[in-house]
Amino acid sequence: MKIIIIAAVAKNGVIGKNGSIPWHSKAELQHFKKTTMGFPIIMGRKTWESIGRVLPGRLNIVLTSKEFKPESENLIYLDSLEKALEFCRSKKYEKCFIIGGSQIYKSAINSADSMIITRMPFEIEGDSYFPHIGSEWNLITTNNLEEFSIEEYTRVSI
Ligand SMILES: NC(=O)c1ccc[n+]([C@@H]2O[C@H](COP(=O)([O-])OP(=O)(O)OC[C@H]3O[C@@H](n4cnc5c(N)ncnc54)[C@H](OP(=O)(O)O)[C@@H]3O)[C@@H](O)[C@H]2O)c1
Repeated sequence: MKIIIIAAVAKNGVIGKNGSIPWHSKAELQHFKKTTMGFPIIMGRKTWESIGRVLPGRLNIVLTSKEFKPESENLIYLDSLEKALEFCRSKKYEKCFIIGGSQIYKSAINSADSMIITRMPFEIEGDSYFPHIGSEWNLITTNNLEEFSIEEYTRVSI
């Protein structure tokens, strides 16, 4: 199963401010929806609270140390990234998406196979950042669109 990080990142690395995303881009939301549809999306509890609803057509997995209820067909809570990945593997998904926020990206960046990063063309004030992308990552494609560009990274093979 491929583990894919998906994020939208401002020029200064910001991904969030005060618990939400500090910009609104319909095109970016459409890209996110199209890319993740049909596959599990794994997120931190704070990102879950900021979205505020189950994203349809995808298994929503929320990581938290707390007890949360109720679960439903498309919503489960788990207390570790490893359990989330194991759960997805057990369901024979071909891929799963790590959708943030900052804490979850940091935990997942060493396990991920690839990353799909939307580069927003501005700097913005915020309090949540995407982690450093080190030399273990290869930028393989850049798709320049009207409002932003989309970069795809894969792990450098040894
Ligand atoms: N631009 C983007 O693409 C994008 C995408 C997603 C989110 N965001 C933004 O990112 C910000 C939120 O990021 P954040 O770092 O503050 O929070 P987060 O990563 O969404 O959630 C953090 C919470 O997840 C749980 N958690 C973290 N690691 C865990 C682990 N290993 N096992 C089990 N539970 C774990 C904990 O929940 P408990 O405290 O309940 O234990 C922790 O408080 C928001 O501003 C959001 O809008 C931006």
